Amino acid sequence: MNKNKLENLYKKKIKLLNNYNKYYYDKSEPLISDSKYDELKSEILVLEQKYTFLKSIISPSNIIGYKPSKNFKKFQHRVSMLSLSNAFSEEDLKNFEKRILNFISKNEEFKISYSAEPKIDGISASLTYKNGKFERGLSRGDGRVGEDITANLATIKDIPKEISNKDFPKDIDIRGEVFIKNSDFENLKVKFANPRNAASGSLRQKNPEDTKKIPLNFIAYTFGFERGLKQKKQSDYLKKLDEWGFKANPLNKIISGIKNLIHNYNEVEKQRANLDFDIDGIVYKINDFELQKRLGNVANAPRWAIAHKFSSNKAISKILDIDIQIGRTGALTPVAKIKPVNIGGVLVSNATLHNEDEINRKDIRIDDTVIIERAGDVIPHILSVDINKRTKKSNKFIFPNKCPSCGSKTEKEFNKVTKKIDAVRRCSSKDYYCDRISIEKLKHFVSKEAFNIDGLGKKIIEEFWKLKFIKFPQDIFQLDYKKIEKLEGWGTLSVENLKYSINQKKNISLERLIFALGIRHIGLENAKLLSKHFISFSRFQNLSKLKNYDDLLNIDGIGETQVSSIKRFFANEINIKVLVELGKSLVIKNVLAKEQNGLLKDKSFLVTGKLNGISRAEVKSLIEENSGKIASSVSNKLNYLIIGDKPTRRKVETAKALKIKIINQDDFLKMLNKTS
Ligand code: IVH
Repeated sequence: MNKNKLENLYKKKIKLLNNYNKYYYDKSEPLISDSKYDELKSEILVLEQKYTFLKSIISPSNIIGYKPSKNFKKFQHRVSMLSLSNAFSEEDLKNFEKRILNFISKNEEFKISYSAEPKIDGISASLTYKNGKFERGLSRGDGRVGEDITANLATIKDIPKEISNKDFPKDIDIRGEVFIKNSDFENLKVKFANPRNAASGSLRQKNPEDTKKIPLNFIAYTFGFERGLKQKKQSDYLKKLDEWGFKANPLNKIISGIKNLIHNYNEVEKQRANLDFDIDGIVYKINDFELQKRLGNVANAPRWAIAHKFSSNKAISKILDIDIQIGRTGALTPVAKIKPVNIGGVLVSNATLHNEDEINRKDIRIDDTVIIERAGDVIPHILSVDINKRTKKSNKFIFPNKCPSCGSKTEKEFNKVTKKIDAVRRCSSKDYYCDRISIEKLKHFVSKEAFNIDGLGKKIIEEFWKLKFIKFPQDIFQLDYKKIEKLEGWGTLSVENLKYSINQKKNISLERLIFALGIRHIGLENAKLLSKHFISFSRFQNLSKLKNYDDLLNIDGIGETQVSSIKRFFANEINIKVLVELGKSLVIKNVLAKEQNGLLKDKSFLVTGKLNGISRAEVKSLIEENSGKIASSVSNKLNYLIIGDKPTRRKVETAKALKIKIINQDDFLKMLNKTS
């Protein structure tokens, strides 16, 4: 069969499958038997495996279940739903604890109690109860805004509708996981790849009656907003949940010491196969709420919790080819195209090879038989090569010394901080001189945490680039919508929607804008720090004129690596032009100072020397929480110099000369009505 005919056959089968899906999920009237449905789905997957050019985004291996048929109303979470950082080893856990101890300035002898809770692999939900009544249930959404799925959640028997206990808080968001038991999933296997997808699909049904047909469960483990919660520890809260009529995980434990955490992890992992629900790790949370509060969050994850992930699923396959992908920072990432293989319910056809060193170390070659590992949401990677299966004619893989996109030479940089040569090879072009880098930069620009433009995803960026509609970020705001309307697949309505979402995003915070520029080493957290420092877009832009880059080193959290990357960004005149053009199209909001009513209002501080029992990071967050400012140097604008052990003499002397108040740690804490 020729390519065209195969493609038509493939598309026809998918169309048919989608129609069956629609009747099953949307209308609850299955048109065919489960086995017939399964047969059709495998036919499609077999076609894809045999003719890899066929695989497309419409493949049933990507779309599981029929796409949600209802646009749910959106609501902002009163307290954001955070995610968790991951740990994969004992080393990661030790670092996690070290970071906490550093933050609170304690040594290893300080014992931390953790609530160790199996991490259920389901869908999280937030349930608002007011005066004991279940009022609204939201999905996680993007963590800030969720979808109103109250009616569907109300069908779950584990979710109490009314709670009359006297000690139940007047107003609280109870949060937990919705999931399907493995035994119940047996009957749903045909339609969904795994229990998690089944839970997600049924929570998003148009008709709650359809949700009701699927046996969903709910386990509670945390809370969001609350008024009147009396418990001071996670363990007490978990106990209370049970009294209030929720289910908590019976495998939750209180543990301290990394060795004991590892012991529990191994024990639970042994039980994993026998549990009736999927877990993908253990969540450790600091048990004491006061300490949790003191530690706070970094970006969108708490400092006081971490998910210790279980090792993954593995499978054997063959490397068909090695592709080189170029990222927005010019990094060349080798990707193995493998013979598609099913790992834990997901069809895997790509595996990352990380970098050149990794290929050399493992001597990975095209045609090799390999073990692939897939852990959670992480991109699958190659664990090892079966050397016995290697053919004589196989050659070592030669990593390209020229960029496959623009032909510039590729190089490995010397890292000044680690004093080592990087493992990653990069295209040596400046921003926007290499087409691939430009496209990847544009994708980053519109991505969720940057401009978050609905309807302008990666595929469309690629398409618009090919058509020369966009080359630089500013072009997004000057699109010719008439031309887009003429493209295949676009209509008046979709163009109107795109125009609307782009226009809406013309109002942007400085923080998001800086992040969107995709400057290497400037992630979300650093963009936030920089925006606080610059306050306005024009001051950020002025950096290219004033060239006062070294001042940035005074920002806590910004180091030499970041500063030299920012310098490099401003040294490229295209970037300067991009900023000028963006400035014309956008309304960039200045950073608003936090509520100015705190105890340290209108006061600025600088710390020199080592403090006792409190870290710099904590002092900094205390100052900010109380509306104070952190100065970057001793100048006549500074109000207080806080001195600890072994202060920098020059700072103390300058402060004295300028008649700035010099205080110690106790004086500072007294200003906040605290003692050390
Ligand atoms: S606590 C800030 N506890 O894991 C704390 N999450 O990666 C965030 N999860 O979205 C949630 N079991 O869906 C917490 N015992 C548990 C959990 C748990 C599963 C999920 C939850 C969350 C994700 C975070």
